[in-house]
Amino acid sequence: MADVRLERITKRFGDVVALNELDLHIEDGEFFCVLGPPGAGKTTMLRTIVGLERPSEGSVYVGGTEVTDVPPGERNVSIVFQNLALYPDKSVYDNLAFPLRQQKPRPPKEEIDKRVRDAAKILRIEQLLDRKPARLSGGERQRVAIGRSLVRAPLVYLLDEPLSALDALLRLEMRAELKYLQRDLKRTLVYVTHDQVEAMSMSDRICVLRAGAVQQVAPPEIVYNEPANTFVGQTVGTPPMNLLPLRADHANGGVELRSQSFAIAGRGGDALSALAARAGQAVQFGARAEDVRIGQDAAGSPLRSRVIAVEPLGGEVIVDLDVDGHIVKAMTPPGIQIEPDELVPLSFDFTRVHVFENEGSAVYRAGGEAHLSISAPA
Ligand SMILES: Nc1ncnc2c1ncn2[C@@H]1O[C@H](COP(=O)(O)OP(=O)(O)OP(=O)(O)O)[C@@H](O)[C@H]1O
Ligand SMILES: [Mg+2]
Repeated sequence: MADVRLERITKRFGDVVALNELDLHIEDGEFFCVLGPPGAGKTTMLRTIVGLERPSEGSVYVGGTEVTDVPPGERNVSIVFQNLALYPDKSVYDNLAFPLRQQKPRPPKEEIDKRVRDAAKILRIEQLLDRKPARLSGGERQRVAIGRSLVRAPLVYLLDEPLSALDALLRLEMRAELKYLQRDLKRTLVYVTHDQVEAMSMSDRICVLRAGAVQQVAPPEIVYNEPANTFVGQTVGTPPMNLLPLRADHANGGVELRSQSFAIAGRGGDALSALAARAGQAVQFGARAEDVRIGQDAAGSPLRSRVIAVEPLGGEVIVDLDVDGHIVKAMTPPGIQIEPDELVPLSFDFTRVHVFENEGSAVYRAGGEAHLSISAPA
């Protein structure tokens, strides 16, 4: 068993708090993605797990054993770095064999040979063993870098943005390969990325990290459909979740979220109580682009919005609209007849919307039932 547990990990570099009281449990055999913007602390987290950084506070456990003070070579954890460092003067074979030749005691030659060839076979680079890194493509170099951690057969693999140096098509290919590889190896894999599509498509669970603090840990569909806060809503999904600042107030015996030109009325159940508790406060209304309705789909809505731009993306069209001075992006099917400057009715799929408190935490999620509706302002 090789789960990874981080307990109240804080890592400071002088005044910089790179990790802030991190609590995480990465399960045995899990494909676990850490998603966050530059500087969020992703690399620091991996370096702390493998033992290249000592936490300022807190403890690290691998397979149930505390390893906070165990040197990197003795943790059974391997890391593939962001920059894919290979030895330029060594052949692919020697690059793969190097981590094994460093081991103490050094495995016998035959054993090293077998493990190098096994790793090369898994990664489909057997035909490249005699080449030098300079004569490899980006994707091949990538495989060799991963191979260097495969040969050691660690219990936990850490990969730091391993695909960021590759072009879009190759990334796509390697993404699928890595996922299958992990499934075959059945080993715990922690994968760091700032690419939400990568995180969404590969992981069993995603951890969204911001400024050294965990924002949410959940399977991709939960992170997408039930973001814990506005940061997660805007980090996961393209385009980012639309957010509109509204003001909550009592109205007509119920609650309304108001803007200049429209209001959203809450009735029944959770919506009413969650919003009533916010009366007198600013809130943020959240809706994904695919949950914004325009034109005929919003017939009957009192809200008219001006089209700012139309972006055809092939499979769908993103329409940018002006709602009381804020841009709202709507995702519509291709072939929609719509022109900039047009005024179109706008509404939302109220079975899928969100309300966040002004600081960002989720206070209401539709959860499949429409307890909110759009109305003219009172
Ligand atoms: N050795 C160091 N000395 C000082 N500050 C550091 C050091 N390593 C990291 N930091 C700081 O800690 C914070 C987190 O850095 P880290 O490299 O972990 O971020 P990251 O999420 O991996 O970013 P990126 O996506 O750019 O790789 C940053 O503010 C960074 O400047
Ligand atoms: Mg990094």
